[in-house]
Amino acid sequence: MSEQKLSQLKIKSVEIRKFNPKTDAKRLTEIWVNGLDQSVDSQWWWNRAYWREFFSQYAKDATAVDGDMGPEGTNLEKSWCFDEENVQMLVAELIFQDPKMAHLLVGSIGIKRGGYEHSKDGTIFTIWKMSVDINYRGYSIGGKLLLAGEKWAKQKGGTKITAASMNPIASKFYLKHGYEWSEWSWWDWIVFKYIGSMNGKLHEKTLG
Ligand SMILES: CC(C)(COP(=O)(O)OP(=O)(O)OC[C@H]1O[C@@H](n2cnc3c(N)ncnc32)[C@H](O)[C@@H]1OP(=O)(O)O)[C@@H](O)C(=O)NCCC(=O)NCCS
Repeated sequence: MSEQKLSQLKIKSVEIRKFNPKTDAKRLTEIWVNGLDQSVDSQWWWNRAYWREFFSQYAKDATAVDGDMGPEGTNLEKSWCFDEENVQMLVAELIFQDPKMAHLLVGSIGIKRGGYEHSKDGTIFTIWKMSVDINYRGYSIGGKLLLAGEKWAKQKGGTKITAASMNPIASKFYLKHGYEWSEWSWWDWIVFKYIGSMNGKLHEKTLG
């Protein structure tokens, strides 16, 4: 179905490839920063202002001169391109049916060995910078990125992959792709969905 929908947009295929810091850094950073809006907009109206402030600061920190992304993504190369055994950044690119049209970067996923505080175990991998351009969501592009990221983690000896998210829509996305909540109760979920949480909620999948 999503292939059919993409074809209607005159898109020939979606390619998942390694991040190229020379051509992709600025666009990836824009998509990631804009993607934070979904985490805000999916919150209950009465605490959206709090989350808007929180994520605006989060984006500022990431894109600061000493942030992990840097201004216009200039630090992404340092963060993601010099440790092939432990970190990988992948991007999704649209190839249009018209060969004269330039390819368009529409999403990213970063995977790290270890990474969150809880996962010092070298066989646990974590997901970062997962985002799809708002205009191309719902076409299985996020799913393709996720599968490619999981495949890479498995090749590197991963047994489990985890994703933290404060975004109920992303949470649904992970559940659809075979992830399970770790350390959650139903009460946590209700609080997460309707009140929000100071901490990202964890989702995990065993890499079979
Ligand atoms: C989460 C995200 C990456 C999904 O990308 P995507 O390309 O739209 O995902 P896919 O098309 O592969 O998967 C769609 C599934 O995601 C979930 N989903 C996507 N958009 C949704 C929405 N608006 N409401 C509810 N569920 C939604 C559903 O489970 C959906 O499956 P369905 O169509 O069968 O209902 C994308 O919405 C995004 O970039 N969000 C903002 C950034 C973010 O929060 N990233 C996660 C950080 S951990």
